[in-house]
Amino acid sequence: MTVSDKPTMIEFRDVQKYYGDYHALRGINATIKAGEFFSLLGPSGCGKTTLLRTIAGFEDISSGAVLIDGKDAAQIPPNKRPTNMVFQSYAIFPHLTVEQNVGFGLRRENLSKDEMGRRVGEALEMVGLKGFGKRAAHALSGGQRQRVALARALILKPKVLLLDEPLSALDKKLRENMQVELIKLQRQVGITFILVTHDQEEALVMSDRIAVMFEGQIAQLDDPETLYRRPKSRQVADFIGTMNFLPATAHPTSDGGFDVDVAGLGQCHIPADQAPGAATGNGVNVGFRPETLTILYEGQQPTDRETPGTVEEVVYYGDMTYYDVKLDGVAEPVRLSMRNVPGRPVLDIGTRTRVAWSPSALVLFR
Ligand SMILES: Nc1ncnc2c1ncn2[C@@H]1O[C@H](COP(=O)(O)OP(=O)(O)O)[C@@H](O)[C@H]1O
Ligand SMILES: [Mg+2]
Repeated sequence: MTVSDKPTMIEFRDVQKYYGDYHALRGINATIKAGEFFSLLGPSGCGKTTLLRTIAGFEDISSGAVLIDGKDAAQIPPNKRPTNMVFQSYAIFPHLTVEQNVGFGLRRENLSKDEMGRRVGEALEMVGLKGFGKRAAHALSGGQRQRVALARALILKPKVLLLDEPLSALDKKLRENMQVELIKLQRQVGITFILVTHDQEEALVMSDRIAVMFEGQIAQLDDPETLYRRPKSRQVADFIGTMNFLPATAHPTSDGGFDVDVAGLGQCHIPADQAPGAATGNGVNVGFRPETLTILYEGQQPTDRETPGTVEEVVYYGDMTYYDVKLDGVAEPVRLSMRNVPGRPVLDIGTRTRVAWSPSALVLFR
């Protein structure tokens, strides 16, 4: 089943939120499917946490509606919603054991000791903490604490798990490991995960779909590959990864595409699907990702087009090298990335070179 065939779990209908005079959510419309790993991505202050909290019921909305599993959330008190929030790891109780922390949410359910033990054991196993139940929570590492926080949320068997920057306190290696574990966990339990993050790489790695937010609005909602390859605006393109922009002129053609003349690159045709935010006339821009350009070494032929230039900056990353290359006839250098392989020397600053590119990698922007 693809995401679009699944039933809707959350629906936002023109959600508006004011804090006093401040317009924090400005007409949010979106649906999140059952079983989806969905991310809210955007810079700090754009309204991600506010939107997440409207699902949990921790935040009232000013107008519009939030529907959870088909029901208007305004009719469901927060503690009756089929949602649960994972807080950052420091929200666990350090003076309790791991199993007391995990069982905390079940304390009012009058379960037998055996049943309680079974549920806690199940939750701990899910997050890879089997056998850690008797440990003191304060004796755990950052990653283990985050797992306890997850187990504490999952034990209540919510339909929707809400995660607000759950990994941001962890260091890079651990964060990357936890990202993979969270993806596996979501597949295993099959419930809807909604993740808030300001980290574009994290959102790309983890999500089925991503809503990119700026200033209280969703700028684009798509799967990671579409967002990366076909951003609808320069703002989205800039926020997700690196995008080069060159000034261009564009003339519409009968097939819905454009004939463009790009500074430094010359003339080519851009089909309609590479111009999601259609733009014509003078003063438009063409964008392309660093990995879509290739340096041609001696004797190599371009598969499509080539343009001469001069290496201005070299940044070596071990597996990759990033180059800033000033294309002939263009003021600003473009950035390109090359995988480092044996027999392909890293170029020095000042080297004259040829850069291969393809019209199929260009995106037209206003
Ligand atoms: N309780 C509040 N009172 C007033 N303003 C708030 C409150 N909570 C958040 N805001 C403001 O609303 C905007 C969005 O906040 P938030 O949803 O926390 O952003 P994000 O999670 O994307 O960083 C920010 O400008 C923030 O300062
Ligand atoms: Mg936030």
